[in-house]
Amino acid sequence: MPLPPGPRTPPSYNLIHFAVRPLETLRAWHSRYGNVFTVKFTVFGTGVYVADPDAIRLLFTGDQSDLLAGEANSFMSPVLGARSVLVLDGPEHLRQRKLLLPPFQGSRVAGFRDVIGEVSERELAGWHPGRRLVLRERMRALTFDVICRAVFGVSEPARVERLRAALLAVIDSSPLYMLTPLARRDFGRLSPGHRFVRVIRAADELLLEEIARRRGEPDLEQRSDVLSLLLRARDEDGAPMTDGELRDELFTMLAAGHETTATELAFAFELLLRNPATLARLRAELEAGEGDDYLDAVVKETLRLRPVIDAAERTLTKPRNVAGWELPAGVKVFPAIVLTQLREDLYPHAREFRPERFLDGGAESYSWLPFGGGIRRCIGAALAQAEIAEVLRAVVPAVELRLVRRRPDPIVMKGITLAPYHGVEVEVVGAARRRRTDSAAATLAA
Ligand code: HEM
Repeated sequence: MPLPPGPRTPPSYNLIHFAVRPLETLRAWHSRYGNVFTVKFTVFGTGVYVADPDAIRLLFTGDQSDLLAGEANSFMSPVLGARSVLVLDGPEHLRQRKLLLPPFQGSRVAGFRDVIGEVSERELAGWHPGRRLVLRERMRALTFDVICRAVFGVSEPARVERLRAALLAVIDSSPLYMLTPLARRDFGRLSPGHRFVRVIRAADELLLEEIARRRGEPDLEQRSDVLSLLLRARDEDGAPMTDGELRDELFTMLAAGHETTATELAFAFELLLRNPATLARLRAELEAGEGDDYLDAVVKETLRLRPVIDAAERTLTKPRNVAGWELPAGVKVFPAIVLTQLREDLYPHAREFRPERFLDGGAESYSWLPFGGGIRRCIGAALAQAEIAEVLRAVVPAVELRLVRRRPDPIVMKGITLAPYHGVEVEVVGAARRRRTDSAAATLAA
């Protein structure tokens, strides 16, 4: 069966080009081959990119039994664990997903907005005029704190710092540990594998300690952090989650949720700073306190123009018709998030940052896909959007920032995310014209 046409360059060349300049490479293939094209990659195999909302809708809805997504993520299981929702497929995936979804529903997430606001104000207190910041790094520290408080339910500073040191030691270790089993083997005290085993063990011990501590808290029934809700959750057979499952899902939420959101925030600031009229309008609307329509539009437009995940991924277990092509079993299909969202016919002036486009009615749901879709749609979508909105609400009216670099940061692959190469470097040039609230001013003055 013929596959849709695509580049004939060698698989290793395709992978290197994609890794070095992901956006330019994808856009070049898209403009040359159209909305459905095939690319052969070394290591990752053959994939068919689909940048067509109708075809993506059919992939994300209806029968999913011939589509695997967890299998493609299984290389992450040495870190996330074998019971992580990200690496499972079929009924086991659905069981974990059903347990995880309720704590992340919009109504629950609304309760986290204050926590996010507090964490943002604390971060802002150190942003003095003249200070240079790499926003992606600062945002990473901030989104880690949010996960600690909202998801793990840990706010005591000493415990947050212990978790930060232990968990980031794992997350920041070389991707080689995930990709090559040999690198993970412990060959003795001086081997890299020894260090990896040691950092994983330390992180596991700490997470299991937090789980045990929470089980014993007298106010467990009243608490609203995600871990407490998961401890109270029961599956369809009335069974609670095991400690092992909880450990894997906590790690997964941290790995999937903190760097993605931090990178998106860094992009949001860069786009605002390069579009002063938009920044001025957002600031004016936030200061006037007249609803969040424009803020929400800025968040949506950032996620459209700069999605951090370039494509979702599904592996066919049976032949399937996708966008008019009969694709054989074993082929990967990539619903192309970034390419769909940059389509000029779906979003006029698609490469420009225009939040106004989201003010009068949103986009069609299968043309705006930063969180993927269907039974694998991002569990943290509402939390991530709340985080971006609340951080902008705290920062934009409070400080004046100046970009250090004249040219936009090149977009590169960092791990599995599209990210700004330099992390968006800024200088704090001025303090607030007006503080958000009196209590925020008190926090900043403290
Ligand atoms: C801007 C921030 C984020 C972006 C752009 C993002 C994007 C995505 C995407 C594209 C997927 C794959 C969807 C698919 O295959 O159809 C995904 C899955 C997932 N995300 Fe997010 N994510 C973000 C933040 C978060 C947060 C804050 C959390 C949790 C605290 C989270 C937890 C997850 C989980 C657990 C999955 C796996 C769902 C499953 O396989 O059923 N993400 N995310």
